[in-house]
Formats: sequence, structure tokens, C-alpha cells
Amino acid sequence: MKELLHAAQTIARQAGTCIVASLGDLHRIDYKGRVDLVTDVDRRVEKLILDRLRHDFPGHGVLAEESGTGPGAGDFRWVIDPIDGTTNFVHGYPFFAVSIAVQHQEETVAGVVYNPLADELFSALKGEGAFLNGRKIRVSATPELSSSLLATGFPYRIGDHWHQAMDLFKLFYYRTRGVRRDGSAALDLCYVAAGRFDGFWEYDLHPWDVAAGMLIVAEAGGKCSDFQGKPSAIDDGQILASNDHIHRQMLQILRLLPD
Ligand code: IPD
Ligand code: CA
Ligand code: CA
Repeated sequence: MKELLHAAQTIARQAGTCIVASLGDLHRIDYKGRVDLVTDVDRRVEKLILDRLRHDFPGHGVLAEESGTGPGAGDFRWVIDPIDGTTNFVHGYPFFAVSIAVQHQEETVAGVVYNPLADELFSALKGEGAFLNGRKIRVSATPELSSSLLATGFPYRIGDHWHQAMDLFKLFYYRTRGVRRDGSAALDLCYVAAGRFDGFWEYDLHPWDVAAGMLIVAEAGGKCSDFQGKPSAIDDGQILASNDHIHRQMLQILRLLPD
């Protein structure tokens, strides 16, 4: 598995270099929804990643945001978000990342999230801990919601869980030191893993947003669940991640939402 993690790290760095080289040189912005953007750079970076994987691991399956599913011959699958935080990228707001996870028989065994502008590479291998630029990281020790800093994100479409997301923001904002909305779920999860945030929740996410970050949180000693407290899968759509200590308190807040 170490070899796969190493490959994911190398590819994420190459992809990051390509993204940075393209900053300010966008040729095309398309809309997947009213405010859900995709650029020529997302597509180019995803192609770069997929070309490398096809060459180095021809039998492996893929699930990639812009091009969908590619079946594999065996038990391995790569889950890829070429740019998590595309809106930030388009506006030059320096909070976006490449996210790459490797799954074996549907279990995530390696994950890499790379923020190229900060040159921060978060990574984890199942059972081996989580790392930031090679240094071990751990979730925070914050024991109480009242002394926590949280993060969240909002759905692109007003129809989805828009109202619940707004209500939850108010409920958490009132009970914590603050709630940030930075625009990259993959990095939000890594910030929980590194102890910068104490918790994170979001509705309507996709497997490529969370696959790598969830493993990184778990390997840093944190917890990920759905909004009922059950262990989360990458295709649940909703995620609650925390330093574990405040998880129960966060679940209690989620229960305050009307059905
Ligand atoms: C988005 C980011 C954002 C989250 C959205 C995601 P994208 O990914 O993770 O933080 O709020 O739900 O779709 O579209 O930039 O890859
Ligand atoms: Ca994403
Ligand atoms: Ca993306």
C-alpha cells in the first residue's frame, strides 16, 4: 500500500503544479448548476491524473468528478477530485486542493489532499497515522463545543438541504467560538485532522470531496459519522467530522433541527 500512497503523493504534487501554473489563465468556465463551476483547468488536471493512473496502474478502477466511473479489473479504485474548491480557484482565493484516495475492496486505504499554494500535503495510510508534509498530525484536544472552532459548507442548489444548512449554521454559531465557510470540503476535513478546526459538517457532498479527507481525519484520531452518529461511507452525502471529544455534543445540535 505504501507504493500506492507514494504514487498518489507524486501525482497530487504534479497536479498541483499544473493548477498553480494555470492560475489567472482560465480559458473556459462552464456551469454545472447556477453557481457550480467547472473550468478547463479542472478537466485538464483530471486528465493528467487519469493518464498517469492508466499508465502506472492499468487494472485499477477510477471514480473521478469530471469524467465519472472507469471500471477496473481488480479490487482497487481511485477516487479523484482534481480541484476541490473550484470557486475559490476561479476567484484566486487560496483555498483549494487536489484530493486523491485509493480504495481496496471499497475500503479507503490511502488518501492525499494537496493545497498547492500553501504547499501543504496531507496524507494517510490505513493504520499508519496521518501526516502533513511528512510530520505526524493529530486532531485537537478541545473538550467542549463552547471552546471549539468549526467549519461547514453550503449546498450549491437552494432545493437541496439549503434551509437545514442555514438553520444549522445559526445553531452552531451561537454555541461555539465561530464557524468558518472556506469552500473546500477536502481541506476542511484535513484542518480537522490537523487540529485547526475542532469539527466540520456538511450536506450534499460527493465521494470525491470526502474520500481522502475522511481517512486523514480517522488516522489523526478523529471521528466521522453521518448526522445520526452512524459510521459514514463516502457516498452518504452528509458528513460530521470532529476531534471525537465534541462529537456527541455536535450530534445533539443536529437533533435540534426540525424534521
Ligand atoms: C465543493 C467544495 C465545497 C463544498 C461543495 C463541493 P468543488 O467541491 O468541496 O467546499 O461546499 O459542496 O462540491 O465543486 O469545488 O469540487
Ligand atoms: Ca469537490
Ligand atoms: Ca472539483
